[in-house]
Order: sequence, then structure tokens, then C-alpha cells
Amino acid sequence: MGMALSVPAAIYLLFPPRGKKGAEWVEAADLSKLETNVPEEIVFRRTRVDGWKISSEKSTAWVIKKSPAEVIAFAPTCTHLGCAFRYEESRKTFLCPCHNSDFSLDGKVIDGPAPRPLDRFEVRIQGTKLLLGPMEKVPEA
Ligand code: FES
Repeated sequence: MGMALSVPAAIYLLFPPRGKKGAEWVEAADLSKLETNVPEEIVFRRTRVDGWKISSEKSTAWVIKKSPAEVIAFAPTCTHLGCAFRYEESRKTFLCPCHNSDFSLDGKVIDGPAPRPLDRFEVRIQGTKLLLGPMEKVPEA
């Protein structure tokens, strides 16, 4: 009986689960393929490690390349109740179809019930590669 209980404990002690980690940095886009100052929705995969469980999930971001050295990457959901928003080319704004929140291209609320600007991913640029990190919430203005 003691042996039966000690084997799982020994395995746990020898191979502890990896702790829950925050979002890892992922290569999300090739900046040379993005037009300057034109929002583009990009799709990328993010791998998460939680204990022994490793999962990969598809994610998206709205990216605006301001210059080869400056990029903004917005999380794809509205800050009101989390609907997916879209880019309105004719108005040059991001519009949430659920309750009509309207956001400027720098993520600020122009109109609607959204309580704060769009959330952003941390970004790094390595050559022409765009890396996205954890999401950061932009506080109310
Ligand atoms: S969820 Fe976007 S305005 Fe309500």
C-alpha cells in the first residue's frame, strides 16, 4: 500500500508540472507584407503551458504598422462586452457591431458604451518579424 502511494509522489517530485505561465511571445506576422497605416487582422497561434497540459489556440489581432519600427496590435474584442469588432474602411474607425461602439485608429473610444480604449498586445520587432506578447489593458482616459 505504501509503495502504491509513494510512486505517484516520487513522480511528482522528480517531474513537477510546469507552473502556469503568462502568454509567451509569438511570431505573428511579417511586417514587410503589411501596408503602412492600414489596419489588418492577422491570425496567429499561441501555445500555453499549464502544468503538464500544453495547448495551442488560434488567436487574432488588429495590427497597424505605423512605420517599420512602430506597430500597434489591438486585441480583437471590444472593451464593452467582448464582441469582435471590425475595421470600417469608409470611416477609418473600428466599429463594434453589437452596441455600436466606435474606436479611433489609436484605440480611443469615439462613441458608444465601451468604457475604455481597445486593449493592446505588447509588441516587439525583430527585423521584419512582428512578435506579440501579453495583452495589456489600457486604463480609462
Ligand atoms: S460589445 Fe462592443 S459595444 Fe457592446
